[in-house]
Parts: sequence; structure tokens; C-alpha cells
Amino acid sequence: MKFTVAIDGPAAAGKGTLSKRVAEEFGFAHLDTGLLYRATGARVIDGADPVAAAKALQPTDLDRDDLRTTAVAQAASKVAAIPEVRDALVEFQRDFARRDGGAVLDGRDIGTVICPDADVKLFVTASDEVRAERRYLELSENGHDVTREGVLRDLQERDARDRGREAAPLAAAADAVVIDTSDMSIDDAVAAAVQFIRARFPV
Ligand code: DC
Repeated sequence: MKFTVAIDGPAAAGKGTLSKRVAEEFGFAHLDTGLLYRATGARVIDGADPVAAAKALQPTDLDRDDLRTTAVAQAASKVAAIPEVRDALVEFQRDFARRDGGAVLDGRDIGTVICPDADVKLFVTASDEVRAERRYLELSENGHDVTREGVLRDLQERDARDRGREAAPLAAAADAVVIDTSDMSIDDAVAAAVQFIRARFPV
């Protein structure tokens, strides 16, 4: 059975890993839509105009290996507040969601704006401190020079901008199921998501 799964939530709530594992479980394709904004933000850091950069974005740009830095994350959150940037990225995301084999998309506005008719909508969240600790460990394990306080500040600043913007703000869709991963391992969160989806789509 093929269907579309929309997974939204704030930064570092675990949506990336969760989405990837849910996609694997069902044999679906996965799109981390944050990469579209990160790739656009990276181009802006290089001197490009945000709207022109979003319009010119190519799938291969998502493979740039410098997209995980906090500087790029901040640039992504800033370009993401520009309505013309979001508009330029809509079609790619909707085409992906419509693919034949089933799709999982994760981001901030998938259940609300990109795929309002998604078959399953999850909103994955966790406390600020838990999210910051996870992101700190991830970044420092990958050799980034970061502090716990800096990562927490960065997440809170980004979340405030992502929630507060007028264009497609970060929000749970009215029909989304909320998964709070503060006290859950990633395995527990994946199990909860898969159980919920299987209950809705028995195979
Ligand atoms: O998921 P992420 O941390 O890689 O996303 C980076 C930024 O991109 C995030 O702070 C806000 C923006 N974003 C967005 O506005 N809409 C999405 N669907 C995905 C990301």
C-alpha cells in the first residue's frame, strides 16, 4: 500500500532519523525538506540572491557536504521566512510527495501547506534542553566546534523565527498526531510512529 507521510516539528526533535526509519520500514522514498532551505541558505552565504538561489536549486545541491553547520541552519531559517523562496520550492516537494512508491517528507509546513491531504501527519517535538543536547552531541561527534549553550541559543532563535514568520510558520496541523520524544529513545519513537501508521493502514 502506498501513501504519504508528513512529519513536522522544531529543530533537532528527531524528525530526520524518525523519517528515515519510517521510510525504510515501508519502503518509501524520504525527502528532508530542510535541505532545500539549507542549500538555498548556503548559496546566500556564498553571495547569491535568496529568491534566485531557490529558483535555481538543483537536486544535486542537496548533496553539498557543508549543509549541517549552524551558520547554514541560521541562513536556512532566514531565507525560509521569504515567501518567494518558499513558493519556488513548493513544486519540487509536491512532485516528490506524489511519486508512485509512497513518500515521507519532513520539515516545518508539510502537514499544513505542502501536503495538507497527507494520509498520515505526525508532529515530532521534544523539550528545548533535550533537543539542544542531542544536536550538541551530533555536531561535536562530527567535529564541529560548538558549545551546549551556543547550540541551545541557536535552536531557540531558529524556532522562534520559524514559528513566528507569516509564511507557512512551524505549526502542528490540526489533524497531526503529536509525538513528544523528550523521554523516548529514537527506537521507541520509531516504534510509536510505525505502530500508529500500521493501525491506520493495516498491511
Ligand atoms: O529541518 P532543518 O533544521 O534542516 O531546517 C533548516 C531550516 O529550514 C529551519 O530552521 C526552517 C527551514 N525549513 C522550513 O522553513 N520549512 C521546511 N519544510 C523545512 C525547513
